[in-house]
Amino acid sequence: MRIVVLVSGSGTNLQAVIDAVNGGELDAEILAVGSDVPGCLGLERAEKAGIATFTAAPGDSASRAEWNRALQSRIMEYAPDLVLLAGFMRILDAEFVAAFDGRLVNTHPALLPSFPGAHGVRDALAHGVKVTGVTVHLVDSGVDTGPILAQAAVPVLEGDTEETLHERIKIEERRLLVQTLAALGTSIG
Ligand code: GRF
Repeated sequence: MRIVVLVSGSGTNLQAVIDAVNGGELDAEILAVGSDVPGCLGLERAEKAGIATFTAAPGDSASRAEWNRALQSRIMEYAPDLVLLAGFMRILDAEFVAAFDGRLVNTHPALLPSFPGAHGVRDALAHGVKVTGVTVHLVDSGVDTGPILAQAAVPVLEGDTEETLHERIKIEERRLLVQTLAALGTSIG
């Protein structure tokens, strides 16, 4: 299964996928890693792993629509079977989603449909839930609303901060992401 991964930050989910591919746990090829944030740690992780990288910063495009088109065409150069959003923090437009329909996967650090959006961990903590978790889902034209592929529960502990809770979620997230990609690989190829 040929994958392009998009990141915006530290890239620990990307690292988990790289390690799973290199360790033979995931029968896939990461063709390239792209980001909206030039020089982010996720891009550095890809470079260290010898994986091609590209950036498409919104500021480089005259409009958000043009940025979507630029990002879309960069990805199309690799002709991936699947595009993985691993900590990618931008909303993609309907044309982009349609171009990769059914082959665009996102991971979200909460149990959707609860706590969608950019602050799922913070919102769950603020709400006082005792259990939160992680969701891997197909992306549709909404925000964190596509068909759910897999979920895992994570307890909220006394004294948790957004950071300690997010780190606990990420442990489950990295495992669930690799597991879900492996399952998709048998259907996508
Ligand atoms: C992940 O928890 C992802 O679900 C969320 O932001 C985090 C990114 O972490 N959107 P990383 O960049 O993979 O370390």
